[in-house]
Formats: sequence, structure tokens, C-alpha cells
Amino acid sequence: MNTATLVLDPAFRVAPVDPRVFGSFVEHMGRCVYTGLHEHDHPSADERGFRGDVLELVRELGATMVRYPGGNFVSGYRWEDGIGPVDQRPRRLDLAWRAIEPNTVGVDEFMAWCRSADVEPMMAVNLGTRGTKEAVELLEYCNHPGGTAWSDLRRANGSPDPHDVRVWCLGNEMDGPWQIGHKTAAEYGRLAAVTGHAMRRVDPRVELVACGSSGTSIPTFASWEATVLAECYDQVDHVALHHYADPAGLSLGEHLAAGVELDRAIGDIVATADHVGARLKSRRRLGVAVDEWNVWYYSKFAGEESLDWAETKSLSEDDYTAADAVVVGSLLITLLRHADRVRMACLAQLVNVIAPIRTEPGGRAWRQTTFHPFAQTAALARGEVLRVEPRSPHYDTRFGDTPLLDATATYDEESGALTLLAVNRSTDEPLELTAELRAFPGHRVATATTLASPDPGATNTADTEDRVVPRDNPQVTVADGRVTVVLPPVSWNVVRLVPASEQGG
Ligand code: AHR
Repeated sequence: MNTATLVLDPAFRVAPVDPRVFGSFVEHMGRCVYTGLHEHDHPSADERGFRGDVLELVRELGATMVRYPGGNFVSGYRWEDGIGPVDQRPRRLDLAWRAIEPNTVGVDEFMAWCRSADVEPMMAVNLGTRGTKEAVELLEYCNHPGGTAWSDLRRANGSPDPHDVRVWCLGNEMDGPWQIGHKTAAEYGRLAAVTGHAMRRVDPRVELVACGSSGTSIPTFASWEATVLAECYDQVDHVALHHYADPAGLSLGEHLAAGVELDRAIGDIVATADHVGARLKSRRRLGVAVDEWNVWYYSKFAGEESLDWAETKSLSEDDYTAADAVVVGSLLITLLRHADRVRMACLAQLVNVIAPIRTEPGGRAWRQTTFHPFAQTAALARGEVLRVEPRSPHYDTRFGDTPLLDATATYDEESGALTLLAVNRSTDEPLELTAELRAFPGHRVATATTLASPDPGATNTADTEDRVVPRDNPQVTVADGRVTVVLPPVSWNVVRLVPASEQGG
């Protein structure tokens, strides 16, 4: 059996876990909003038409922040179309996904949904077909208390209190030639700077996210950030990074290595942003907002050009496998390992479109395999991320040297609880992991779970929702100041350790 070790010691800390790292993303795309989040005629719908069954699953998922309304969609969006009496809202062409947008759901409905779901909104403004003026007007509509045209309109539309949106994305993937209103880095950097400057005049408390690279394979990766941030460094707080792992054409072992690429991408973006900061002699350091990340079977998606002008159509409703859940777990581990710089992250998306939650129109809602690593981590990763210094056998992938073990841990000083998150990337062998507990004498195992399947390609459906779920792992022991746990091949594992004095699990 392969073996690996790591150390759990509160002296070695990365940074506190920012709850915003458990964000997600709702875009007007496919069935994410319509028949996903929102469906007036659904038996569980509330008075605004939001599905209660989906809302319950979102709460269980533990999402903390939700980005809206896109994505590529935002780059052609007129936010004013989505406010006021619903029956008077215009139907528009959505150029990003070649769909008809009915505007039944807009900013006020989304804010009401965020309150019900107890999540923080993260808004994106359109810097594709629109600019500074429309962005500051939207901010005034959302955050100004009243006594001006836009804020009074919000009040008249049924929201007397400001929506108080703190986090704003200055556009979406403006580096991508597919983006409506795509710009060069210099053009975008300037626009982000002037828009950020004006937005802070409306509300100085906003946190602004500049568009970074839409992926590592785009030719402008890192040079985009260097040029953009040279223009807008002082006006923004975070730089975005998007990361989708497409399993197409990869062996299972290669797919499981996706976290290695994200790890390197985060490091590269931090280095690039810090280089700009150093050149500007700035004492500020920017955060990284990984505000779209997931496994995405993108190569199955026929491309925007092939789409027709339908109102509600299924797009990228990927069926996630047990192996995909393990990759999602590994990407979560990577995000946490960079807790000192990754201040927010959004699993893209939330419902139906590349999502942990799926729905039938008029029918059931269910948890995909990828729901579970996210829900467990959001619930249990508390306190500070520890630097655990794993030692493990490696294997070669196109991303380079890849450790079989991917792991991190969090320590909650208040409760004394330790949460160990671990992935075994081996496709055929279990891995015996031994964690040094020397700084936590007397800690005992409260729970140990494993998500794995004899068939890594197994999926959950509405009829077989419990096929791939975390199950108790009996192969865990604590002795001589060490916890030892056997991780099955292709598995996601969570071990929770608590002080001996704590009762229950
Ligand atoms: O999440 C799906 C799409 O992926 C988003 O609209 C876009 O920003 C990214 O390319």
C-alpha cells in the first residue's frame, strides 16, 4: 500500500478561512435561473416564484456568497430591464448564450433570494457593451439610501432599505475574444480604473474585483494581469481568476491532477500582481478572487454560435461522476492552501449549469456528486488553515510532478476542532495517511468519511441520489500521537478531530 505523512501543528498557519471562499455563481444561462432557482408554477415556489426545494439545498450546500448575473451574460445586459413591474419588462436577445431573456428575475428579485438563502450577493457590472455611467447607476440603485432618482426608484420598486452590496466585479472575462465587448488589456485596465474610481465615489465601502485571466490556456495569461493592474491597481482590491477543469481526452490520473494546475495558476497570478504592486511602490497587496471554478465538460458544449433563440434551454447540464467530486475536493483543498491570498471563490455555477444542484422543470431537485465535498468543506473548514507539509509518492502528469496525496487542514482555536481534508489520486491503490498529532495530545476522531465508488464514473441522478455520497470510513485509528487513515483509490476524505473533552461528533 502507498503511504504518506503530514503534520498537524497550530504553529504553522497559512491564514484564517475566509467564509467567502465558499461562494457560488448564478448566471442567466441555460436553466440556472429559470426552472432552476426560479419557477413560478413549481409546487415549492414562494410568492416571488423561487423554488423552495432548491433553496433548501442551497442552504445545505453552505454557499456563503453568490455572484450574479454573469458570466458572459453580463457583458450584454441592461440591468434596468430587470426592475419594476414584471409584466412590463422587455424581452431581449441575450447575445452571450443566444437566448431570449424575459427579465422575470432581475436585481431586486435576486437580492430577495439572497436574503432567503442567507448568502452575500456579489454583483458584476457590464463593461462589455456598457461602461462607467451604467455601473455607477446600478450601484446607486443598490446601495444609496434614498433621495436620488435611482435610489428612490429602488424604494418605489419595493426595497426601502439599500441592498448594501459590498463586492463588485468590474466586468467578466474581458480577456476572452468570445466576450461581448472584448477589450485589450490596456483598454480594459483603463476602463476598470475609471469605473472603480467612480464607484468608490458612490460608496467607498465597496470591494472591487478586476477581471483577470479566464484560464491558464489563454495566450495572454499573466501578461493580461500585468497590463490591467498597471492601470487599475490602486482602484481595485482583488484580481479575478477563472479555472475550469475539462476531463475531455484526459486519463483518470491526469484529470485528478487538476488541482496542481490551479495551484500553479494562483501562484502565477499572485506573483504577477505583487510585481505590479512592487513597481508601483504600493504597500497594498491584492486578493485573488477565483470567482468561477469547477469541473466543466466544456468540449461537450457545442459552442455559442450553434445556439438558437430559445427562452429556457438546457446548457452544460453536466452529470458529475465520483471522480469529478474528488477533483472538486482537490480544488477546494488548493483554494484553502492559498487562504493567505485567495479571499473569495465561486463554484460555477449553482443550479443545473455545471452545478452541484440539478432540477427537473416542475419536478425534483437533487444533489450531484460534487455537492458533497463542497458542503462538507463549507460546514467543517473553520478557523485557520494549517500548513501541513505533506510527504507522498508522486506521479507524472502533463501538469508536472503530481503528489498522490492532496491535503490540507483547518484548526478552530475556539472549539479545538481539527478538520483534515485529503484526496487520494491513485487510481488503483489505497493510500495509508499518517498525520502527526504531537501538538494535540488527547484529540480523538469525531468523524471520518470517505467519498469513493468502485466505479469512478458513477453519477447521481434524481432516482439514485445516494449512489455517490460520503460514507463512514472505519479504517481510522489514533495511537501514539498519530492519526492513521486509509484512503481508498480515487477518494475524497474528511477526518474531524476534537479534544478528548468534547462530547459527541
Ligand atoms: O460559467 C459559464 C461561463 O464560463 C461564464 O459565463 C463565463 O464567464 C465563463 O467562460
